[in-house]
Amino acid sequence: MYSKIFTLPRKSGQVEVFLIRRCTVTDLSDIMDLQLNIYKGLPDPGLYALVDESDIEESLQEDYCYGTYHNGQMVAFTMMIANRVSHRNYGTYVGYPEERLPDCVSLEITIVDKEFRGFGLQRLFVQIREEEALRHGAKESLVTIAPDNTYSLNNLLKSGYEIIETRPLYEGALRHILRKRLSWDGNTD
Ligand SMILES: CC(C)(COP(=O)(O)OP(=O)(O)OC[C@H]1O[C@@H](n2cnc3c(N)ncnc32)[C@H](O)[C@@H]1OP(=O)(O)O)[C@@H](O)C(=O)NCCC(=O)NCCS
Repeated sequence: MYSKIFTLPRKSGQVEVFLIRRCTVTDLSDIMDLQLNIYKGLPDPGLYALVDESDIEESLQEDYCYGTYHNGQMVAFTMMIANRVSHRNYGTYVGYPEERLPDCVSLEITIVDKEFRGFGLQRLFVQIREEEALRHGAKESLVTIAPDNTYSLNNLLKSGYEIIETRPLYEGALRHILRKRLSWDGNTD
């Protein structure tokens, strides 16, 4: 079970120690609380589509979910839908045939508590999930981002993702769909 300590700096020079570990169903209520707090603090609720508790619970059992902890408190969370056949596999959003879905992981939630932004946690979460995806034989990774979510979009572009489509998703809200072809070479820094 993934569990690793990271000492991360901010641009200001502040350094903090974080534990990142795989989450289980026992973490569900902490995840729901963090998601709601972060959602309430958004300048524009259109930037982030709340994920249902039932989907998060399913992913805690079937997919890959990671929490970041600072002094024992969850301060960030992320989730990746495994390369499995499901309507939740983003390959279905771009019309992949069912036989291509086992090649494809989907990066879903990433949320970082306001107090802990700027430590590069989103990009670290991308790297951790891509490595997990490669270990499970995935060949590509997809993610959806609101076009106005500049912080998130920049992080994914810097991580090697490319916009392949822009269209309404999630009850009509506009989203970019980004893709990266996965290989160990691109994930070894
Ligand atoms: C997107 C998000 C996960 C990025 O968090 P992060 O990984 O800590 O961000 P970074 O480390 O890349 O931050 C880089 C810089 O942007 C700033 N920043 C990051 N997100 C910011 C935000 N939402 N508002 C204002 N500034 C932000 C950081 O403070 C940092 O500033 P600095 O360079 O002056 O120190 C975080 O903003 C967030 O949780 N947003 C709400 C939920 C969301 O939109 N999730 C993504 C859905 S696809």
